[in-house]
Amino acid sequence: MKYKYITILMVAVSLWMSCSTSPSPEATTLKDAYKDKFYIGTALNVNQLMGGDAKAMDVVKNNFNAIVAENCMKGEEMRPADGVFFWDEADKFVEFGEANNMFITGHTLIWHSQAPKWFFTDAEGNDVSREVLIERMRTHIHTVVTRYKGRVKGWDVVNEAIEDDGSFRKSKYYQIVGEDFIKLAFQFAHEADPDAELYYNDYSMDKEGKRSGVVRLVKSLQADGIRIDGVGMQGHLGLNHPDINAFEKSLQAYAALGMKVMITELDISVLPSPWENTGAEISKRFEYREAVDPYKNGMTAEVEKKLADRYIQFFKLFNKYSDNITRVTLWGVTDGDSWRNGWPIPGRTDYALLFGRDYQAKPFVKDLIEMAK
Ligand code: XIL
Repeated sequence: MKYKYITILMVAVSLWMSCSTSPSPEATTLKDAYKDKFYIGTALNVNQLMGGDAKAMDVVKNNFNAIVAENCMKGEEMRPADGVFFWDEADKFVEFGEANNMFITGHTLIWHSQAPKWFFTDAEGNDVSREVLIERMRTHIHTVVTRYKGRVKGWDVVNEAIEDDGSFRKSKYYQIVGEDFIKLAFQFAHEADPDAELYYNDYSMDKEGKRSGVVRLVKSLQADGIRIDGVGMQGHLGLNHPDINAFEKSLQAYAALGMKVMITELDISVLPSPWENTGAEISKRFEYREAVDPYKNGMTAEVEKKLADRYIQFFKLFNKYSDNITRVTLWGVTDGDSWRNGWPIPGRTDYALLFGRDYQAKPFVKDLIEMAK
């Protein structure tokens, strides 16, 4: 009899201990902690997709529930020459997302950068006509979106078409087609997959000019009855820039238009910035100097703390707007993968992401998880 009571007591104590000390499975990863708020996504690079980094893929499976293609769906990658489509990497990307039940975003259909040169020129190297470029856009968008119809759930249809002052970027698309190229791109994407969500995506979204330019653009698409579901705010941040209040203002402005808001390319560089502008103009590059690469052998404790505080500050904002935000996507898995090591200065050592080069979550990730509760 006595043993029976002791056994019951032991079981009760161990049950109590397991409840009080180990967090529920929901609370241990970002994707689970935020599952009722927004997707937690990451960009995947080609090396990961082609089997070169199994450890990173495990991190992705365990911590993220949304993926976006870092490079393999860009024009230059998919359309090396007229009439040639290259699918291998993008197919792998979509298969991985489906196999792991993830929200899949395609990035990006129309972008002035990483676009193949042939797209804008004829056999003599001259600019093609408006009609020819529109036809090329149509073929490109229809072919790509149709291939992944029903599987890629959302597309960054147009990327970075507005300058920081709110005017249209004078890209080849703009020069040859005129500002209509944006509407046409959204129309073509909608024709190809009427169920896909369609987004406009850009950087420097904290800037007033950019904010009003994007608001104007969304309103004009809406006025013309063209489907647009959301605005992607790239989040290529630094420790001191941009001002979070300005970023919040833009978030509010897009939400007020009924847009789903996505933080699409989040990374926080800890390195000194060589220029005033904190956007992500990828054509801007500066020469390497030792002086601007101070943490080659690791961050100082002070910088580590600043990085943690900055991530926490932004996740607080994301939590505050969780009714409007549908996805927060990191621009890469581990620090070693981050494009910030190479931009705007090549060859530096940055620590911009949530997982270190050792594939371990940084200590502050626990705080981000905690904040979701
Ligand atoms: C970057 C990739 O991360 C790099 O690997 C590539 O060399 C250049 O492009 N804005 C975007 C992304 O929309 O596609 C860019 O990605 C970063 C800035």
